[in-house]
Amino acid sequence: MILNFGSINLDLVYRVPHLPAPGETLASSSFMRYLGGKGINQSIAVARAGGTVHHIGCLGPDGGWLREQIAGFGLSLDGIATVDVPTGHAVIFVDEAAENQIVLFGGSNHAFTQDQIDRALAQASAEDWVLLQNETNLVPYVAQTAKARGLKVAYSAAPFDAVAVREVLDHIDLLALNEGEAAALASDLGRGASDLGLDHVLITKGADGAELHSADQVFHQGSFAVESIDTTGAGDTFLGAFMARFVDGDVAHALEFAAAASALQVTRQGAAAAIPDKAEVEAFLRVR
Ligand code: RIB
Repeated sequence: MILNFGSINLDLVYRVPHLPAPGETLASSSFMRYLGGKGINQSIAVARAGGTVHHIGCLGPDGGWLREQIAGFGLSLDGIATVDVPTGHAVIFVDEAAENQIVLFGGSNHAFTQDQIDRALAQASAEDWVLLQNETNLVPYVAQTAKARGLKVAYSAAPFDAVAVREVLDHIDLLALNEGEAAALASDLGRGASDLGLDHVLITKGADGAELHSADQVFHQGSFAVESIDTTGAGDTFLGAFMARFVDGDVAHALEFAAAASALQVTRQGAAAAIPDKAEVEAFLRVR
């Protein structure tokens, strides 16, 4: 089981001819709203890959539509508190090259309480993993408390902030970040991925695939060439799909499955809505 203490956002997605320059007013060609947030995207990716996940999050009184969406993905709403703060949202521009620009309003994602976290962790079993990102409050508290209870902790360093990584580094077993973030962290800490003293460091490298640095071994995974139309949530898809398989111990398959899941995800619009299920990923891998 993976307990994911993670963000939930309303994604407001605008397709634009190019990403806006400072001071520019730009007309969008379409507008869509989706369920999003790095946390819930990762939970959905775990579930769609066939893993077991329990999402712990916070929504405001305006979060009814997002609750319906989450339930529609088959996830339990038991761990999702209703708080007296507007629901978090993201304003997302996607250009013709499938690149994006995202502005976040944290809102309800910053309303976690220690009590909510303690109650969720009290239900965990020794073999469970805790999953965290950098879009919610009290992340160091969750990591520290989970570790003290003997659970394994995975941290996705997104959105990247070196200070936030430093705060959890002593309490995590797996760090996930992209290539640019890995370089920024190495320059901040003066140490590379293999020298962080962690059991596992997962580095995604876009078209160059991914690497998992584990104790005495580095696993490499190539990427699958696809025509991408929207890369929003691709990293979340990779990590969730990877975790679903990795917790069972098959590292090489976890990496290949995750690369295929994220390749499929970028061929569709939206974040959570674009995440493929296990059968689709397996069918994709069969013809590769
Ligand atoms: O990683 C993609 C996600 O980042 C979006 O769904 C958006 O909500 C932001 O959290």
